[in-house]
Amino acid sequence: MEKKKVIIDCDPGIDDSLAIILALKSPELEVRGITIVSGNVHGNKGAENALKILKSINRLDVPVYVGKTEPLKRQLVTAEDTHGEDGLGETQYPTVEETRYRTGAVEFILNAIKKEEISIIALGPLTNIATAMQEDNEVFSKVKEIVFMGGAFKSFGNCSPVAEFNFWVDPDAAKYVLNNAKVPLTMVGLDVTREIVLTPNYIEMLKQFNNQLSKLIVDITRFYVNFHWKQEKTLGCVINDPLAVAYLLDNSLCEGKSYYVDVVIEGQAIGMSMVDEGNFLRKKPNCKVLTETDANRFFYKFFNTLFPEFKEDIEIVLSDKRYSY
Ligand code: RIB
Ligand code: CA
Repeated sequence: MEKKKVIIDCDPGIDDSLAIILALKSPELEVRGITIVSGNVHGNKGAENALKILKSINRLDVPVYVGKTEPLKRQLVTAEDTHGEDGLGETQYPTVEETRYRTGAVEFILNAIKKEEISIIALGPLTNIATAMQEDNEVFSKVKEIVFMGGAFKSFGNCSPVAEFNFWVDPDAAKYVLNNAKVPLTMVGLDVTREIVLTPNYIEMLKQFNNQLSKLIVDITRFYVNFHWKQEKTLGCVINDPLAVAYLLDNSLCEGKSYYVDVVIEGQAIGMSMVDEGNFLRKKPNCKVLTETDANRFFYKFFNTLFPEFKEDIEIVLSDKRYSY
């Protein structure tokens, strides 16, 4: 089967890092490049982090480009409280010296689309994507699909009562993409990503695996786990972004329906994704909104892809009914 050519646009970020690892460990995907946008941390820090993650899995061959470091209109607000000062859970890994990131993410995206059929996995604010569309939507319309982590349909917000972080950081970009994209859009929002909890049990399993990759995941998620306990008394941490990668790999992991979706760009509800389930606006559906997922099936895919050598142990742990509440 021919590999899917993808660009990952992201703001690494702890869960973005797990998504990058999942994508690069998935034989069905060819990652043509990683483009960075400001979100969890400033874009330049995000680009450094992408290199640190690529180095940890010996994939510095994948090019990293930084793009827009400020939202289209709003003042940038980052999330070091969630992802740590360094954006990787205060692990303070050394700066990668072997290679450097480049600038020009938007140009890279448009040039890549001109060469071949590209799918885009967007895991941060949609500033780069909106800018690429604004620069040349005719070229951009050749994109096969965009699967983005962002928004919330019936789930509550994670940075305001109603807004999800990626849409809240750059609501204008999210609104622009939703209303101008000529390509299939899939919204992997909080309704499904909140189900994807890397639990203390899973973290203990990773500790028992006791290899370089499992230790990296335990290390970069520790700060994020502490944040989840302080913020919402969640045991473990919600890893949003890898679900977008997993969905691109296997659409059967989530259910959803197409609706017209718009974004609130001012006022108290800024960043809210407005899903018109009642078709009040009489507008054509512009986005498939995912509403159900099977977390256990996601974790089978996630762990088996990253740790094929532990397939039997993963089966034992994930099928043990004693752990489900
Ligand atoms: O709301 C969660 C999203 O915002 C995730 O993509 C996380 O990495 C942050 O970018
Ligand atoms: Ca992200």
